[in-house]
Order: sequence, then C-alpha cells, then structure tokens
Amino acid sequence: MSRHHQHDVLVIGSGGAGLSLALNLPEHLRVAVLSKGELAGGSTYWAQGGVAAVLDDSDNIESHVHDTLVAGAGLCHEDAVRFTVEHSREAIQWLIEQGVPFTRDDDHHEGEPGFAFHLTREGGHSHRRIIHAADATGTAIFNTLLARARQRPNIELLEQRVAVDLITERKLGGSGNRCLGAYVLNRASGEVDTFAARFVVLATGGAAKVYLYTSNPDGTCGDGIAMAWRAGCRVGNLEFNQFHPTCLYHPQAKNFLITEALRGEGGLLRLPNGERFMDRFDARAELAPRDIVARAIDHEMKRLGIDCVYLDISHRPAEFIKSHFPTVYERCLGYGIDITVQPIPVVPAAHYTCGGVVVDSRGHTDVNGLYAIGETSFTGLHGANRLASNSLLECFVYARAAASDILDQLEQVAMPPALPSWDASQVTDSDEDVIIAHNWDELRRFMWDYVGIVRTSKRLQRAQHRVRLLLAEIDEFYSNYRVSRDLIELRNLALVADLMIRSAMLRRESRGLHYTLDYPGLLPEATDTILLPAGYSAA
Ligand code: FAD
Ligand code: SIN
Repeated sequence: MSRHHQHDVLVIGSGGAGLSLALNLPEHLRVAVLSKGELAGGSTYWAQGGVAAVLDDSDNIESHVHDTLVAGAGLCHEDAVRFTVEHSREAIQWLIEQGVPFTRDDDHHEGEPGFAFHLTREGGHSHRRIIHAADATGTAIFNTLLARARQRPNIELLEQRVAVDLITERKLGGSGNRCLGAYVLNRASGEVDTFAARFVVLATGGAAKVYLYTSNPDGTCGDGIAMAWRAGCRVGNLEFNQFHPTCLYHPQAKNFLITEALRGEGGLLRLPNGERFMDRFDARAELAPRDIVARAIDHEMKRLGIDCVYLDISHRPAEFIKSHFPTVYERCLGYGIDITVQPIPVVPAAHYTCGGVVVDSRGHTDVNGLYAIGETSFTGLHGANRLASNSLLECFVYARAAASDILDQLEQVAMPPALPSWDASQVTDSDEDVIIAHNWDELRRFMWDYVGIVRTSKRLQRAQHRVRLLLAEIDEFYSNYRVSRDLIELRNLALVADLMIRSAMLRRESRGLHYTLDYPGLLPEATDTILLPAGYSAA
C-alpha cells in the first residue's frame, strides 16, 4: 500500500547541502530528508581537498573573488561570487561549531593570534585558503552533520527513498505555480509514496554519472535538474562539465580521486619518461585551473597515445605525505602503489556539474516553494569553470540562505490540500530490464566520446541524435512498466544529457570547460546559456 506523508519541509538529498539546510531550520518544523540510497551515498562523503574560504589574516575577500572570476572565464555572476565569498567565514564557523574535526595548524599555539586550522592550496587559488580534514574532508563534514541531524527529533532521515517527480499545482491542472510535494519510490516496499510539504528543497547533487568515467559515486544522475525541468524551471549553463585532471588510473579502481591538494603541496605531473609538461601549457603549471590541466593531460595522452600520465609527490618527505594524504596513501598502497616513492598513474574524469537549476541568492527556483541548493543548482558562482573547493562552500552558504528564506515565508504558506496518490494502475512489471542496462551504458559511452573534454559540432549532433532515440525508448518504457531506481535514474540522465548537448550546441565559442574545435575562439561578450521549459513564462 502506498503511503501519504506530510512535512513542513521536504529536503530531497542528504549531502552537505541537504543536511545543512535541515540543521539550519528551527526545531518546531517537521523536516524530512530523503536519500535515494544510503544516507552517505552523495558526493559530499567523498570530498577530499576541502572548503575554500577567506579565513587567514593574510587573505582577503577581493582575492578570493578575483580568483573565482578568473577561473570562471568571464561567466561568473559577480554578485553571486561576492555573496558566497562574503558569507564564507560564517559558513565555516558554523561547521566548526557543529564539531567538524578540521586539521589544526601545527605551528599555531593556543591563545596566539591567527587562524588555528591548517589551510592548504589548490589550483587557481592565489592564497592558502582551503580548510580541510586531512584528505577526507567530506567524510568528516558528512559524519558530523549526520550525527547532529540524528540528535534532532524534528528531522526524519529516510534512506532508500527515490524521488520520482515533483507535484505542482500546474501538474494537477491548477493555475497556480506552487510546488506541493513529491512522489517518492520506497525501495523497501516497492510502492510510490506521496509526500506533501509546505516547502520542497532539491539538494540532489550533480550529474557527472552521465559520463562513462567519473570521480563521482553512483547516483549522481541529475535527478534534481530533471525533476525541476519537468516542473517548469529554467536550467542554466549545462554545457560546463568539469573534468578533474587526476583520477587514479588502475583497473581495480572504479572512481578514486587524487586530490588537487596534492598538487597544491608540490605534486608534479609527468609523462611516462619522467618529463614535466604543464609549464608548456600554462605559466601556473600544475596549479593552473582545472580546465587547463585536464585539457593539457588529454592533449598529451592523445599526442603520445598513452593511457595515463603520472602525478609525483615522492620528492616530499614520506611522513609529510602520510600525514597530509592518509586516504590517498592507503588507497594507492592497496593497489600496490607506494606514493612516497612512486608516481601515481592518473587520468581526467567527469567530476562536477557547473550548471543546473536557475536560482537566486536565496535558492528560489522558478516554481514557488521549490528551492534548489548545492551542486544541483545554478547560482552563477562557477561561471565556465568552478574554482577548486568552491563547491562545498556554495552548498553551505546557499543552504543557510534558503533555510533563512523558508523561515521568512513560514507564516504565509499553508500545508497543501490532500494530494492524489501515484497512479500505478496502467503499468506492469518489466520483463526486459536488459534495455535499461544497455541504454545506461550506451548513453554514458557516447557522452564521453562526443560531449567530453574536446568537442566538435559534428560530435554534438551525433550525440543529440542518439539521445533523442534513447529518450523515446525510455519514455515508452516508463509509461508501461513499474518504476525502479535504475529506470528513474536513466530517465533523468537521458533528459539531462539532452539538456547538456542542447546547451553545448548553443555555445559557439570555446570558454572555460566548453572547448570545441569548430569555435576555438572566445566571443567578446560572455552570456549564459539558459534553457526554458515548455510553457515557461516569467513570473
Ligand atoms: P551530494 O553530496 O551529491 O548529495 C546528493 C544527495 O541527493 C544524496 O543524498 C543522494 O542520495 C540524494 N539524491 C539524489 N537524487 C535523489 C532522488 N531522486 N531521490 C532522493 N534522493 C536523491 N568540492 C569541494 O568543494 N571540495 C572538495 O574537496 C571536493 N572534493 C570532491 C571529491 C570527489 C571525489 C567528488 C565526487 C566531489 C568533490 N567535490 C568537492 C564536489 C563536492 O563534493 C560536491 O559538489 C558536493 O558535495 C555536492 O553536495 P550536494 O549536497 O549538493 O550533493
Ligand atoms: C580535490 O580534492 O581535488 C577536489 C576539490 C574540488 O573538487 O573542489
């Protein structure tokens, strides 16, 4: 039997963004936080390097703003950048108050002036400004926030719940533009439950799983972007997919990242013969922004026909490496690579979705009562290329802003009326799940081959042709068979892939992460690629 639930706030996603929002709401509100798998299943848990923020007296807001704008290649919204950076210190302070065990600075003594925590460096940053918990920052943040959420009786943490679609006044045939809740697959019962809420928050993470090779955990399928689009929200700048330059290249390592902080602490990129090459591509060498480093590696791999390049930190003392990068050290050792004496084989892989659901500085989408925060959103912070470690910062700053906005609106928003149950009367159990597996594979492979680090118009056309065929097939499957997690994810991935390809086709220049051989130059004016859903009208 499918069930009906009511909450003041429904948060779809239990990563850094979703948990922070829930914890920033007052305890008299009934809050549900959903995760489609286990609660730790999002990218947050796997974040390594840290969180960028202006924390040290030698650093300043203008410098962080400047570095972000430079990395974003002319496309950042300066107001969003300023908003984020100006709120960075208080966001970190909040995390420290929650108890996140950030790494302390050994040289700082209790009672002395200056910042007590160690700050590391990453590509594109002109200062040391990344606060971290060794090289497992995401795990430390996630575990701390989850423990806090478990202590809060008003927060219900529900795992194995896959949001299928948003329920809006429009979808129910009304003339209003409000989000009323969501249909959610309960993987334990197999039923689709109805969640009604006064406010709904999309905190579903990115869509890097659209590519065959990615640093992301399973599940980053762009669900929030797809649901928002179907609900009538605009999406922005989806052509900008960030490829992390250094993921471990090893047959048994599915998706293990080698943190950029390793380059920040002196790691050097080398060809198989030991030769360095980054200085041929950029004066900042290994510390150039990610798009430049990933493209340089891709170029060298294609030029030399090699499977990977090497990242070498073995010239630093072994004790330093083990204490700063214990996770990377242990994991590589498990694969027979001792990084204190050997270089690490690395390749670029899809890492971060810079575009997403268009929101303002309080996380509002185009649908009333619907917010989007974290990687699923498009705030304007990242422009054409995200600066390292600005993403977790964005999660916390916008989660806090959206929570405060919900509080401001509380009095005016009532609980929605009774919502219709999910209608499963026309569907049956699928006897052809092989189609789902096949389409998943095909989609991720052609996205990698045709919509990857280097693009051409012809490759994009090919990709568009293929994705449209898949969309039609998936649509038919969705209309006839009972939903499963795999089917929901495939439906969303294919839609987001289509939106990415459309966005890439509209950009007739090479800027930041979007590089096409047909338009290698930069247009004089930087403009966002905003896609409008059918029937969209500005409020
Ligand atoms: P996530 O943490 O991805 O959480 C998404 C949540 O949504 C999950 O709980 C998932 O179950 C849930 N969800 C998704 N779809 C549904 C659905 N349909 N129904 C129900 N629930 C759903 N950024 C930095 O700033 N610094 C770093 O050092 C850093 N390192 C990184 C290292 C790795 C390996 C990776 C992959 C990313 C890294 N990033 C880093 C990026 C950063 O981690 C992410 O951008 C950020 O954690 C996203 O947080 P989020 O809360 O938006 O989403
Ligand atoms: C890393 O540790 O290299 C990831 C940092 C990021 O994605 O911001």
